[in-house]
Amino acid sequence: MLSLSGFFAILLFMHLASGGPCDNVVTISSSWPGGLTASLNISITTPITSWEIDLKFSSAVPWLKAWDATESRINEVEYQLRNVSSNGVQSAGTTLTSVGFNAVFSSSTTPIITSVLFNGDNVCLIDTKTEDRQPIIEQENNILVDAWPTKYNYIEVITKSLLFYYAQRSGRLPQNDNPIPYRSDSALNDRGQDGEDLTGGYYDAGDHLKLGFPLASSITIVAWSIIDYPLGYSSAGKLTTARNMVKWATDYFIKAHVQTNKFYGQVGDGDLDHDYWGRPEEMTMSRPAFFISTSKPGSDLAGETAAALAATSIVFKTVDSTYSALCLTHAKQLYAFAKRYRGIYSESIPQVADFYSSSGFGDELAWSASWLYRATNDNAYLDDAKAFYTEFNLSDNPSEFSWDTKTAGVQVLLAKLTNENLYRNAAQTFCDSKVNQPKTPKGLLFVTKWGSLGAASNIAFICLQAADLNINPLAYRQLAQQQIHYALGDTGRSFVVGFGHNPPLKPHHASSSCPNRPAVCDWDAFDSPNPNPQILYGALVGGPDNQNDHYVDDRHNFFTNEVACDYNAGFQASVAALQSLAVNGIFN
Ligand SMILES: *[C@@H]1O[C@H](CO)[C@@H](O)[C@H](O)[C@H]1NC(C)=O
Ligand SMILES: *[C@@H]1O[C@H](CO)[C@@H](O)[C@H](O)[C@H]1NC(C)=O
Ligand SMILES: *[C@@H]1O[C@H](CO)[C@@H](O)[C@H](O)[C@H]1NC(C)=O
Repeated sequence: MLSLSGFFAILLFMHLASGGPCDNVVTISSSWPGGLTASLNISITTPITSWEIDLKFSSAVPWLKAWDATESRINEVEYQLRNVSSNGVQSAGTTLTSVGFNAVFSSSTTPIITSVLFNGDNVCLIDTKTEDRQPIIEQENNILVDAWPTKYNYIEVITKSLLFYYAQRSGRLPQNDNPIPYRSDSALNDRGQDGEDLTGGYYDAGDHLKLGFPLASSITIVAWSIIDYPLGYSSAGKLTTARNMVKWATDYFIKAHVQTNKFYGQVGDGDLDHDYWGRPEEMTMSRPAFFISTSKPGSDLAGETAAALAATSIVFKTVDSTYSALCLTHAKQLYAFAKRYRGIYSESIPQVADFYSSSGFGDELAWSASWLYRATNDNAYLDDAKAFYTEFNLSDNPSEFSWDTKTAGVQVLLAKLTNENLYRNAAQTFCDSKVNQPKTPKGLLFVTKWGSLGAASNIAFICLQAADLNINPLAYRQLAQQQIHYALGDTGRSFVVGFGHNPPLKPHHASSSCPNRPAVCDWDAFDSPNPNPQILYGALVGGPDNQNDHYVDDRHNFFTNEVACDYNAGFQASVAALQSLAVNGIFN
């Protein structure tokens, strides 16, 4: 399935990149059946104080959204982009490269950009005004247009969720890609026991530990959403940002994989870290690092990381084949390590046991084998996945899909990859039980008091996947939408920081609780009755801590108000899926 769309993407890219009259000014950075992402590169030859760009396509483009410009639709094949206030003034000799757009088309043939007028002047290599080219006008897909907009602004949610991940970045931050004003370089001395460079990665939650197991789980889920719902991201103008969000973690996993059978799964000591409240940029406590090896195995940690890297190799397959291959090499090695040296990582790294103790590794073995099969099409991995599925009784109906328990993910992924009833039935049993489970009075599928909204979002994502396989699609999509809309505002408030009506103001999150530098930040910030001085855009808080929708916006409450890479992953993935369904006119 993926290889097919990848195949199309390559074909489209080649088609559009070679021979279109406007290739000199429009670059298609990614494309797939039904949509494309493009950026402009226009040389400014005379000083200007405002601009308009007229774009013409060879066939109908029912939906287009620009960034760094406002778009308006002229007709089926023509759009106008106008400057925003920050980029109207341009001096001669500069190049306008920040503007781009996502477009959706309903035709089977990919539209070609036939004309680009910049302030009325043709800027394409071939002036199509003089060419006898007749645009092929296809019938507009009305469903698609009518499906817009959605009840909540998913584009804003996706954009902000990605900002949350930016706020969690550890290590040296790229100067040209740090949208979080209160964050800068931190933990630059993170090292392994033999001095290995372990800088980078993401801080786990409101604290500053780097914990590989839940992070790898988050990355597998987000990568999964990029693979299956690229339109969800690209229609928000965030496909590249989403890929980079995943890569920030996989770069770190690759560093932490210091030898074939040695992998660092934790940086920072839980007690030392939790004795500190303040900015990650100002930490001075020691940050020891802990690894798994042949004598201290962790099949769950190595397996989940293999799954994350295998999924990421798919994400980058058509974008950066070198990086994709690198991810796949590490994924294969970690998988072999997980399979051969069996053990529970939280027994090998007891320092993590208070935070993310693993209940077993059979699910991660099947999960990583399934992802490696998806990434490679090598049947040996599928055989392994099926054997692990049987050996570890993964047909048993799990209660959740979480950083610890991948079983429901294995079920629906194998259903997708094999279409076999064994897995389809298991996925249906899981989602049917969630549809039938009584909800809280306000509609939440409550499965745990730890991050109840993240847990409901993970289930939403699994059932959106099952719906794609035509297993009770309407009921499962409604369940997913109900859970995501609960978080976005259906109870009268938002549970996403900096989004919607009455959002949380006091997330349990150290760095955003700090005033602007150079003011001191310590436990007084933790105890402050005021909102966090920095808005932690896009963070999904834990949420209600009981069956009666009980919630308090209290920084001290790490049940209702902590945030985590893990909570946002299934949430963001589900929003991307819902956005994709809406843009495609399938469900809204
Ligand atoms: C824009 O086009 C010019 C001329 O073709 C090229 O030199 C430059 O690298 C391009 N810039 C970007 C950001 O693509
Ligand atoms: C275009 O840029 C100019 C100059 O900054 C500005 O005055 C104008 O409002 C911009 N146009 C739009 C539509 O924002
Ligand atoms: C799987 O289920 C069987 C039968 O209930 C049981 O004997 C076996 O121990 C289980 N295996 C695992 C790995 O849980």
